[in-house]
Amino acid sequence: MAAYDTVIRGGTVVTASDMVRADIGIAGGRVAALGENLDEGAHEIDAGGRLVMPGGVDSHCHIEQPGSTGGTNADTFTSGSISAACGGTTTTISFSPQVRGRGVREAMDGYAALARKSVIDYCFHIIVNDPSDAVIEEELPELIAEGHRSIKVFMTYPSNRMDDAQLLKVFACAKKHGAFVCVHAENHDAIMWMTDRLLEAGLTSPRYHAWSKPPVVEREAVHRVIALAELLDLPIQVFHVTCAEAAEEIRRAQARGIKVFGETCPQYLTLTADDMDRDGFEGAKFICSPAPRTEEHHEAIWRALIDGTLGIVSSDHAPYSFDDPRGKALHGANARFSEIPNGIPGLETRLPLVFSEGVAAGRIGPCEFVALTSANPARLFGLYPKKGTIAVGSDADIAIWDAEREVTIRSDDLHTQTDYTPYEGMSVTGWPVMTLSRGEVIWNDGEVTAEPGRGRWLKREPYDYIRPTGRFTAPFDPIALRKLEE
Ligand code: URP
Ligand code: ZN
Ligand code: ZN
Repeated sequence: MAAYDTVIRGGTVVTASDMVRADIGIAGGRVAALGENLDEGAHEIDAGGRLVMPGGVDSHCHIEQPGSTGGTNADTFTSGSISAACGGTTTTISFSPQVRGRGVREAMDGYAALARKSVIDYCFHIIVNDPSDAVIEEELPELIAEGHRSIKVFMTYPSNRMDDAQLLKVFACAKKHGAFVCVHAENHDAIMWMTDRLLEAGLTSPRYHAWSKPPVVEREAVHRVIALAELLDLPIQVFHVTCAEAAEEIRRAQARGIKVFGETCPQYLTLTADDMDRDGFEGAKFICSPAPRTEEHHEAIWRALIDGTLGIVSSDHAPYSFDDPRGKALHGANARFSEIPNGIPGLETRLPLVFSEGVAAGRIGPCEFVALTSANPARLFGLYPKKGTIAVGSDADIAIWDAEREVTIRSDDLHTQTDYTPYEGMSVTGWPVMTLSRGEVIWNDGEVTAEPGRGRWLKREPYDYIRPTGRFTAPFDPIALRKLEE
């Protein structure tokens, strides 16, 4: 009888801390052994000349979710998760969206039912946009205790934004019950005011999306939300940081000992505001929020990734088809920028873009790549070391990479149901040629071998990584309602 179900032989195993030539023995869906010349497996995979890395953890992707700015998400859980797997990602964290006036429990029940079609493992952030007494006192505490340990809040979008008092209400609930909070940070009133002025001036085409929300509106909101979190000593993550100014706010807070984490996305390392300035409606393909910036900001964001200010690169996959009245053309192909659904597809291209722009371009090494795209999101969201590493006992979620492969990105070759990619024609170096989820090959260089529904929901227990600092801005704990020693 074979010693292992599968042996991945002869590759270079990369984790966030090490790079070593080793075989991997897999049994029962988990890594059972790492070493040289392991005994035979029932299934043998030759990884000679390849990098063998933990599957990606995409901790920010919108799958089969009603869009915050209208439009219908082009991917189902089946197509989205297949697309993720083909790009080397083995875990997604997407969003269960509350509808204003209704509960977070009913949203979760409906959304979790959709996710049962996933081909890879998954869990959810709870979007809260209406912190009613029932939500704060009953539904959120129950969902958190059941293992949904993260919440997303928005400071903009009419359908989702909350004011500072509402944010504090959600923050207090998260702190009390042990959930981690992620924030979409942009100043809503400033964006609305700028949008009205641009439309009044007749500046309506896609390129003016970027003018309506310049870096200053992001910087202000990042500063403000960090201050609110500091009041409660609540660790938070700022989602999709795009610019030098916002990264600097996070850096300054971290230097003061505030527990704030930062994330960015490939679009903020590769696309610019000029991409929205294309002929006709083409620019709509690049409209996402916050808006893509400039090449100077790309370099500032790389610096923030390298110095640790930002620890995660997620996709913010928010797929709206271009040639579709439910997608970018929801309000017609001449719609004003303010009416175009915000979001771009990116689950499948996230890892190749970061690998190419990061590792192949010499900005980071393979270990840093694994940290930014797999280990750090797994740590921050309570999934580590089950996910995010290759170690004995970890789930055998593995992506085998050809680090030399040159690929020209083409929408036709991708597996998302979105009808375009913003990266059309871009050349990248490095591509995942095989993906395993819990030891099962689900993507094999051109062939999808996964069955919809094999993915599992990941219950998240309380975890230490998001432990508060214990320091408050006044000698008073506003959650415990207790005076502290002065
Ligand atoms: O532009 C972005 N980031 N869109 C995602 C938000 C959403 O819910 O549509
Ligand atoms: Zn967002
Ligand atoms: Zn998002």
